[in-house]
Amino acid sequence: MDRQKLENLLADMSVSEKIEQLVQLHGGFFGEVDMITGPAAEFKMDADRPYRTGTVLGEHGAEHLRNLQDRMMAKQPHRIPAIFMADVIHGYKTAFPVPIAIGSSFDPDLAEEIASAAAEEASAAGVHVTFSPMVDLVRDPRWGRCMESTGEDPYLNSAMAAAFVRGFQGDDISKKGKIAACVKHFAAYGAPVAGRDYNVTEISEHTLFEDYLKPYRAAVEAGVKLVMTAFNTIDRKPCTTNRHLLRDVLREDMGFKGVVISDYNAVGETVIQGSSADRADAAKKALIAGCDIDMMSDCYLNGLEGAIKSGEVDEKLLDEAVMRVLELKNELGLFENPYKDGSAEREKEVIFSEKIQALGRRAAEETTVLLKNDGILPLKNGQKIGVVGDLAQSKEIVGSWSIFADASRTVTLREALEKLCPETEFVFSGDAPTETELEKIASCDAVLLCLGEDQSRTGESMSVADISLSDGHRELFSRVSAVNKNTVALIYGGRPLAIPEVAKAARAVVEVWLPGTVGSYAVADIIFGKVNPSGRLSMSIPYCSGQLPISYSLFNTGRPKPETDSFVRYVSNYMDVPNRPLYSFGCGLSYCEIAYSEPILSKNVIRRGEKITASVSVENMGDSAVTETVQLYIRDIKGSVVRPLRELKGFKRVGLEPHEKKNVEFEISEDMLKFYDAEMNFTAEAGGFTLWIGHDSLTKNGADFRLED
Ligand code: BGC
Repeated sequence: MDRQKLENLLADMSVSEKIEQLVQLHGGFFGEVDMITGPAAEFKMDADRPYRTGTVLGEHGAEHLRNLQDRMMAKQPHRIPAIFMADVIHGYKTAFPVPIAIGSSFDPDLAEEIASAAAEEASAAGVHVTFSPMVDLVRDPRWGRCMESTGEDPYLNSAMAAAFVRGFQGDDISKKGKIAACVKHFAAYGAPVAGRDYNVTEISEHTLFEDYLKPYRAAVEAGVKLVMTAFNTIDRKPCTTNRHLLRDVLREDMGFKGVVISDYNAVGETVIQGSSADRADAAKKALIAGCDIDMMSDCYLNGLEGAIKSGEVDEKLLDEAVMRVLELKNELGLFENPYKDGSAEREKEVIFSEKIQALGRRAAEETTVLLKNDGILPLKNGQKIGVVGDLAQSKEIVGSWSIFADASRTVTLREALEKLCPETEFVFSGDAPTETELEKIASCDAVLLCLGEDQSRTGESMSVADISLSDGHRELFSRVSAVNKNTVALIYGGRPLAIPEVAKAARAVVEVWLPGTVGSYAVADIIFGKVNPSGRLSMSIPYCSGQLPISYSLFNTGRPKPETDSFVRYVSNYMDVPNRPLYSFGCGLSYCEIAYSEPILSKNVIRRGEKITASVSVENMGDSAVTETVQLYIRDIKGSVVRPLRELKGFKRVGLEPHEKKNVEFEISEDMLKFYDAEMNFTAEAGGFTLWIGHDSLTKNGADFRLED
């Protein structure tokens, strides 16, 4: 439909029809709805009104959505098609590893392929928009939603955000197999005070712009079609009614042109937060602030019309918001084909295709992180191996946002081990082995001990005050490691868990995260050496909850700690634990040693607008092929505001055959040195810098250079 037709359509719509386009309800409002006590009654609607709304939340399935679309269009005064939006976060029917794991691949191409596969499956099931990617930075694993983010670092999250958007949307969202993406939750939802979900966010303007906003900006630059507002407040103002955030920052500064949608009842919650007088006031504030769609509240439905008619809210704002929704429908091609790709045949063809299963397995190969190995791994086939812990036999290892995933397809670790290693004798037991079982475990050559959390312990609202292993798992670890010293700990979960005792006593530690539908095959292949691990932590693993929030990217303070893990009085440190995480961002081992040469700079002075190169050679000292993630960090020594001790500025995944040596080069530009100065200008200040190129965020492989005017 051309622009003129869209404008004619808008001009022909009544105020209430326009408002209905800005309302999103879930599936409970359609079909056999109880109009007396059900949600529709609560929202004071007649039975037909849900059908006149513009978008629907969480419904899926080709036949069902074709049918729903027909029913909705039939009741729309202008037969406007609805958009079906759903949370396809890390896969639709096939679940891929959780996003915190995808971050650990340090492989944006993989993220793009995953998003593209998820879009293929979901679009076949009639879904038009996904509420993904979630790009909130996560530095506090008490927050259960860490699993939905790709990690703690703005540079990594930005690369991943753009990749997800490309994967979901391609170059044209009307094309077959593509869906529109919605970046969330704008903004800084990942930094709730004390890690408690939905709590207020206390954040400085510098930290917000320097760290937290960058991944959203990257998604906007990649062309994301929607942005979701966050539940939290920033500076005591709810994000959903924050005009400055939504109009000045998102639209003006970042240049976002698409649709802004609230989070679930976030408009209504501003009343409970105490910043809107009532639901009509909330509706007014949200629309003025720039929130186009009201997800799952009756604020717009029942509160906007009066404000428009009385002139309290300019109808122009309503028209602009409706036009953005109509434009999205148009870009999806819904006016021509309201079902888009939804078809039962296509569902059969695409969902669980071999290609997608193979991608799920490769994804988990890349996202599993080997944290410690004293040489016990890889295990040899043909040995007797104990496999202990309920998690080894659990299908709850997919992730709490795999709401549409087919659990019957989930491969457990036990199933994977038995299938892939027929010549190995496995001795299985659960979380509470009997004495007889312990005796058998004692006689094994090694034990795979599955610890951590299943998917029910992570995700929305699943905050914890203490990120230690459960008492049961700590006891299990001591019982098993007391009888068998060859214990390999496999850590499951959607958040980093504090595992200092395991890190000390286990012979190897593997961060498995929640590996998805077929990820257990990859875990088995890594343990038995068929795959050389290459994952790197996307989020630091702390010693204990008291260190939180934590990141590798720290500041010096006026009293920096000398290079020791022991306590030093009158410097900034703890008496009981080191300042650094137990395992820092970017860390992860493979089965090969990698040797780095010192970085060589093409020049050690950059003049404004110029670029230099920094290169190292990396050599695989091992006997198997490996992928090494070469990481570039930079420190700006002095600035008009204090600068972090190091920031990730680049990474490259480099494939190395046994004993192969390669040269890896990074371009260093003035742009990479820019930051928000004391006056909030995004600029690079002349002066000294250090860069490091190495294996992880702890690398000391550095060289100095200067930026000169
Ligand atoms: C979550 C969002 C999600 C929405 C719709 C909310 O509770 O915060 O991330 O997209 O529900 O399901």
